[in-house]
Parts: sequence; structure tokens; C-alpha cells
Amino acid sequence: MIRAEGVTKIFGSAPETALPLLEAGKGKSEIQAETGQVVGVHDVSFSVEPGEVFVIMGLSGSGKSTLIRCINRLFEPTAGHIFFQHPDEGEIDITGLSDERLRMLRKHHMSMVFQNFALFPHRSVLDNVAYGLEVQGKARDERHRHAQEMLEMVGLGDWGKAYPSELSGGMQQRVGLARGLATDASVLLMDEPFSALDPLIKVNMQQELKKIQQQLGRTILFITHDLDEAMRIGDHIAIMEEGKIIQLGTPEEILVNPRTEYVARFVEHADPTG
Ligand SMILES: Nc1ncnc2c1ncn2[C@@H]1O[C@H](COP(=O)(O)OP(=O)(O)OP(=O)(O)O)[C@@H](O)[C@H]1O
Ligand SMILES: [Mg+2]
Repeated sequence: MIRAEGVTKIFGSAPETALPLLEAGKGKSEIQAETGQVVGVHDVSFSVEPGEVFVIMGLSGSGKSTLIRCINRLFEPTAGHIFFQHPDEGEIDITGLSDERLRMLRKHHMSMVFQNFALFPHRSVLDNVAYGLEVQGKARDERHRHAQEMLEMVGLGDWGKAYPSELSGGMQQRVGLARGLATDASVLLMDEPFSALDPLIKVNMQQELKKIQQQLGRTILFITHDLDEAMRIGDHIAIMEEGKIIQLGTPEEILVNPRTEYVARFVEHADPTG
């Protein structure tokens, strides 16, 4: 469904200057000291099967958000390719799309739930949720009806008329989630969508997400720094450190055979029964 091949993202005014150093095997801090460029993601490859939940996890700063933003090209990758299985056109290279085609892709095929919610402050909660449907040109009644259903699903059925600033952080996060789920995009990119939720609501939302995946056949790329959450919802988990994927496998594979000290430390604290 989605395939990343050697994706690298370097931040700074002269990203190319960092590439040879990366190839020479230098680390992120060394490169930053020598060139002033920041390595966000380095040589990441993976593929996401249709209809699965693919989890990316890692500590803060490991490159998770950068990677997911390269996938829909909110960030322009410095190197590498991202392929997408388009329903009508077969496999297309997202990295080569024109702006217009990229807009179409985001509008119809890939929706994103942002880590910082990114709600529109001057739109009501209902109109925030209905945004993607509005962009798709759906009639007002239809989009409001559907947005209301999504709000009810995230437990905010009574809040449609409110404005984002009147909501708590966790409530805003649920609005962002409802907005991401409202369109029928086949791919959902979700950047820590549950991080601000209470534990009980979080578990409910995890179950809801599995339902959406199974009933609607959506393909979900899901970022978390919570290993228990990753184990619960992931079909595959990629673990990132310093911009690289250091282990990729099913939850079982990772639990049973953590490949590095770093993964082992994560796994020690996992609760597989949760
Ligand atoms: N817009 C940007 N400009 C410059 N550097 C950036 C930018 N975005 C991210 N970075 C750098 O890229 C690296 C990876 O950041 P990223 O936001 O992808 O981490 P993350 O894994 O999502 O962390 P968190 O769990 O805190 O959200 C960090 O070193 C960060 O400083
Ligand atoms: Mg992030």
C-alpha cells in the first residue's frame, strides 16, 4: 500500500553537505556539529500492507513525525522514494508528484491526524470535523451529518457548536481524530493521536481504531511512544532511533527477540496482557 525506499530527511540550509557524512557512517550529533545540519530521518525503508496498522515508535526526537510527514510530503524528503498503491493508477511515486496531483492525493486518499491537533480556531468543532468532506465538495447537510456521527464516536456528540478553544487538550485531540476519520481516505497517517487522552478513553479509542481498520479496511500508519499501545494495535511495529529504523517486526517478534539494548529496554516495560 505504501512503500518507503531509502528515505532521508535532513533539516538545514545545505542538506546535501550532510549526505556524504551520513554515508561515511557519522552520527547525528557529529554531523550537526560539523555541518550545522540536523538529521531527521536517515535511510528508512519499509512497506505497509493494505488494511494493516503499521506502528512507528521511538523516543522523542527519533524522527517519527519527520518520517510520517515525508510520506504525504508535508516535508520534502532529501533523498529516497515513497510509493503508493493508487486504486486507479497502480503504484505511483509520491516523491515525483506535481503540487496539483499531491493535493488530489491528500484530498482523496490520505488523511492525517496531527500530533498538535492543528484545529482551525475560527471553525466550530463540527466544521472542523467536516473540513475534509468540505474540501471534497460534499453538500453541507451530508457533511454535517457524517461529522456529527464521527463526533459521537469520539464521545463529543454535544460539542459540535463549540469552538476549539473551549475544549480541553484531550477533547481537542479527539476532534482532530474525528476529522481524520471523517473522510473515506484509504490511508490514515496518525501522529500520536491518543497521547493526550485519559487511559480509559485511550483504550476505548484503540478498540475503535481496530474496528475502523477491520470493518472499513483502512490502512493506518500510527505513531506512538507507548509500547503497550503499539503492541495492542500494531500488525507490524518499526522502532526508530536517531532517525533510523533499528527493528521492524510483528509485536510478538519484537517482544521475543528485541534486537538491541534500546529495544530490550523498551520491551522490559511492556505489558503484553494489557
Ligand atoms: N522543521 C524542523 N526543522 C529543523 N529540525 C527539525 C524540524 N522538525 C524536526 N526536526 C528535527 O528532526 C529530529 C526528529 O524530530 P521529530 O519531530 O521527527 O521527532 P519525533 O520522533 O516525532 O519526536 P516527538 O516524540 O517528540 O514528537 C529532531 O532532531 C528535530 O530537532
Ligand atoms: Mg513527533
